[in-house]
Amino acid sequence: MFSALKLIVVLGLISFGFTEAAEKKWWETASFYQIYPRSFKDSNGDGIGDLNGVTEQLSYLKEIGITATWLSPIFTSPMADFGYDIANFTEIDPIFGTMEDFDALITRAKAVGVKIILDFVPNHSSDECEWFIKSAENDPEYKDFYVWHPGKIINGTRHPPTNWISVFRGSMWTWNDKRQAYYLHQFHAKQPDLNYRNPKVREVMKDVLRFWLRKGAAGFRVDAIPHAYEIEADADGNWPDEPRNELVTDPEDYTYLDHIYTVNQPETVELIYDFRKVLDELNEELGGDERILMTEAYAPLDVIMQYYGNATVEGAQMPFNFELISYLEKDSDANHYAELINGWLNLMPAGRTANWVLGNHDRNRVGTRMGEDRIDMMNILLFTLPGCSVTYNGEEIGMTDVWISWEHTVDPQACQSNPNEFERLTRDPVRTPFQWNDGQLAGFTTGNSTWLPVSDNYKLVNVKRERGITMSHLNIFKQLQTLRSETTMRNGDVEVKALSENVLGIKRSYGGQKTFVILLNIMNHVESVNLNAAFSSLTNELTYELVTDKSPRRKGDKAYTDSILLMPKEAVVLSTTA
Ligand code: NOJ
Repeated sequence: MFSALKLIVVLGLISFGFTEAAEKKWWETASFYQIYPRSFKDSNGDGIGDLNGVTEQLSYLKEIGITATWLSPIFTSPMADFGYDIANFTEIDPIFGTMEDFDALITRAKAVGVKIILDFVPNHSSDECEWFIKSAENDPEYKDFYVWHPGKIINGTRHPPTNWISVFRGSMWTWNDKRQAYYLHQFHAKQPDLNYRNPKVREVMKDVLRFWLRKGAAGFRVDAIPHAYEIEADADGNWPDEPRNELVTDPEDYTYLDHIYTVNQPETVELIYDFRKVLDELNEELGGDERILMTEAYAPLDVIMQYYGNATVEGAQMPFNFELISYLEKDSDANHYAELINGWLNLMPAGRTANWVLGNHDRNRVGTRMGEDRIDMMNILLFTLPGCSVTYNGEEIGMTDVWISWEHTVDPQACQSNPNEFERLTRDPVRTPFQWNDGQLAGFTTGNSTWLPVSDNYKLVNVKRERGITMSHLNIFKQLQTLRSETTMRNGDVEVKALSENVLGIKRSYGGQKTFVILLNIMNHVESVNLNAAFSSLTNELTYELVTDKSPRRKGDKAYTDSILLMPKEAVVLSTTA
């Protein structure tokens, strides 16, 4: 009797053209959240966020529907680049707490159901790392852990071995008195590059991965991977100069050269495949959910796609997709949005999962970059595209950049420039303390000061206040998380189109399930769209599933495909009945 019923149900589903997709892995539909630990929550009143602060707020992450959070570096560091200069890769910096605090974080995160992903910085260490100190001393075990060169003698004067310029300005080479040689640093002079042409380096860094996986990390965000290799030196141990970018006149600026020998060398991709093997090995050893890699590469799309792996080798599950943060601007039209989104989807190797990154600690905040009146619109876009989403802490409440004067700037990327250039380079404005409530210092700390200033707007933009406002950014964000758990959003196909110069349309459909149509009216004009011309197989009547404060409609109102009116900057999610 039971199996006859089951058969009827199955036949019924097949006749509607619907078969359930294979079960997705946890990360394939996940909502990721980046925490910048210095700025998230300070538990001990020293004005700098810490691990216990994160642990305290894990229930908040659960409240806003987060699956996993990646933490910017929490390891021992002199903080020349706020933790991206690591002195000991397997120790917690006292600023952030202790190893016991980390263990407590993992235990609590498991109980709450949020995964913890760590930042893995393979390209460089701190110059205060024991490996570098020993390398400078020519210790036989460590002497080739970094990239060293005695320099070129021209007319009796010593010069750096190449013209290469570091990302943080000036020569990529710094002289070391002890070793009597130059060392290479693609970033700050306090961040010497590890030498991946030495197999021992690869092995110690793979051990770092193993260490944290055994401690309970669910995976890693891999920092600055395009910089891991430089072109191989010639038989005499020399490298070629990089050519000039004629459009740039400042010889200290990173963009002055065309970086053909210092980024995106083919070995970088192969390095990720090797790191992935370590994760697979630990999946075997530890069991449980698959561990993941997210790679940070600002690179041409065809290079980024290689990080996914191919038919014969596995790479990163999530090569970060920076299309939305790198190329969308305030005046981008709907065609531009559609091109960027389809560009990624079309180039992605078969069977892989898309991801969409909307912000991070290096780029201006969404409200500053795209305009505050597009904050909800951008979150709607992030959550209705297929695959995983990545949100930077504070974007869910609509935090915006905070202007910080040259005198108060602390970001090394800006400090190495000058009072005229720093605003273009500084990342301090996106790293200010998280705004929890309207109390003193936005509830970030119990102390009397914070390492970067709290935004003036914290009385209006904070979690506590936004919880109580139906149409707040926070509540729209939470509604989007609910919507995202719909079968169609998790498994469905996607069509992305410019319906006019100003209106982007997205259709998500999945067999006989509910179909969703998402409309973004990007500019300041009232627009009318006819969906029949754009998308096939829609029912004539649609229902508003999600609206923002730009909309005169309410959730549950009806719309008709032949004519839908959109107010300036209105973004809506509509559905057909299942
Ligand atoms: C990329 C990180 O996101 C950035 O903050 C850091 O300065 C560089 N890598 C160097 O590690």
